[in-house]
Amino acid sequence: MRMTEEMRKSLRITVDYTNMTDKYLGDKGYSAKKLDSYKKLSKAAHAYVADNRGKDELFMGWTELPYNQDEIVADILATAKEVRRKFDYFVVLGIGGSALGPIMAFNALCHLHYNDLPKSKRKGPKFFVEDNVDPVRMKELLDVIEPEKTCFNVISKSGATSETMAQYLIISDLLKKKGCDVKEHVIFTTDASRGNLVKISDELGGVKRYVLPDGVGGRFSQLCPVGLLPAAVLGIDIKNLLKGAAYMDKMCKSSDFRKNPALLCATLQYAAMQDGKNIGVLMPYSDNLKFVSDWYAQLWAESLGKNVTLDGVPCNVGQTPVKALGVTDQHSQVQLYTEGPYDKVVTFLSVGSYREKTMIPHGCESIPDVSFLGGHTMEELIQAENKATAFALTKAGRLNYTIDLPEVNAFTLGQLLFLFEMQTAYAGAMLNINTFNQPGVEAGKKATFALLGKPGYAEQKAALDQAASDPEYIV
Ligand code: PA5
Repeated sequence: MRMTEEMRKSLRITVDYTNMTDKYLGDKGYSAKKLDSYKKLSKAAHAYVADNRGKDELFMGWTELPYNQDEIVADILATAKEVRRKFDYFVVLGIGGSALGPIMAFNALCHLHYNDLPKSKRKGPKFFVEDNVDPVRMKELLDVIEPEKTCFNVISKSGATSETMAQYLIISDLLKKKGCDVKEHVIFTTDASRGNLVKISDELGGVKRYVLPDGVGGRFSQLCPVGLLPAAVLGIDIKNLLKGAAYMDKMCKSSDFRKNPALLCATLQYAAMQDGKNIGVLMPYSDNLKFVSDWYAQLWAESLGKNVTLDGVPCNVGQTPVKALGVTDQHSQVQLYTEGPYDKVVTFLSVGSYREKTMIPHGCESIPDVSFLGGHTMEELIQAENKATAFALTKAGRLNYTIDLPEVNAFTLGQLLFLFEMQTAYAGAMLNINTFNQPGVEAGKKATFALLGKPGYAEQKAALDQAASDPEYIV
């Protein structure tokens, strides 16, 4: 269905930052004057992102993904149709940015018990994302899938990640043992021309391969084939996902942070960081949005956690993302948020209209403490608890703001993803760091290579062995 401007407007996500201001927080909140003191910096960040958008050499190719993929989308839709026709299981092998996007979209836009539904009620094959190398998990995945009926989407930009390549070795061996033609059961998503997956697909010949574009880093890759193929296989409307992203991009045109939702969020978070709020909690009030927090945690942590500015000055910046779920974590973490140290800013994700309402029936009439719930919907209950938690935090002088999604669908999810990506790019520019590299992750990857004997890492292996040979504090 074609969306009218009116429909788009009704699905527009908004940011309510009243509870970050002095209006209700008094001196714990920010006055208009205080926020205005960040105007110059946020304008400069906006200009930096606007001037460099689309530049592959700066890893900012992701800004153009909502616009430059018509052919790729058509190809993905055709492949997805084939996958649905041929396979009963679709398994993503990948980690970090090559897994968190597919997990997020799956949970946001599919039935929460998708794999347990009968085939007739699912739009696609059973779906799994294997983003760990826990041996138990691998073995137990193989207990519930049939490799002969499975398509494995191996996603790795570098093609060098030990976790993903180990998984590939396991499944290709298994497929061969089952007498399957490996190339008919794998789809690779990787760099255009470099890396081991390119070599492997050349060796196998005829493997379907999608490109993770040059200027798109792992954590900014949900809107390219990394996220689009798994989503399309699940029957998610990927065109609307991209349209949502483009719609948010349009809303991010202004250099005035009060008129640009992503710049507003970046400025609020930057102000909070300057104020010692080293922890950023993301608390969606929706099980569908639970894994947005995992995706966002990587985006925010890996992008902003840096030890040197763009001018080469040492620094240690970033904000620790914490994942929480409303209402579940009201009964776990909210006590700390309300009364613990003043070191957090809480972002709520609220939903205006849930796709199910679920009536709470009348009952227990002789017990008013219970019967008051009857006649309400669960939607009313979760929304009331969301408002109540924001109120309680505000009363306790805790910074919090709310991103409102009118509903959870492909269009609003696309908006939300792009908002967070732009927010991260703006915040990185405000911090004057390289938002798009991840030297800290690379260091761990290299140490793993050394420990497992990859050629070329002998020196690092010796250093690691030396460190391990002299433990001092084992009790
Ligand atoms: O955001 C990133 O760059 C990382 O989290 C990577 O996505 C992750 O390490 C996996 O790398 P690759 O896709 O090269 O296997």
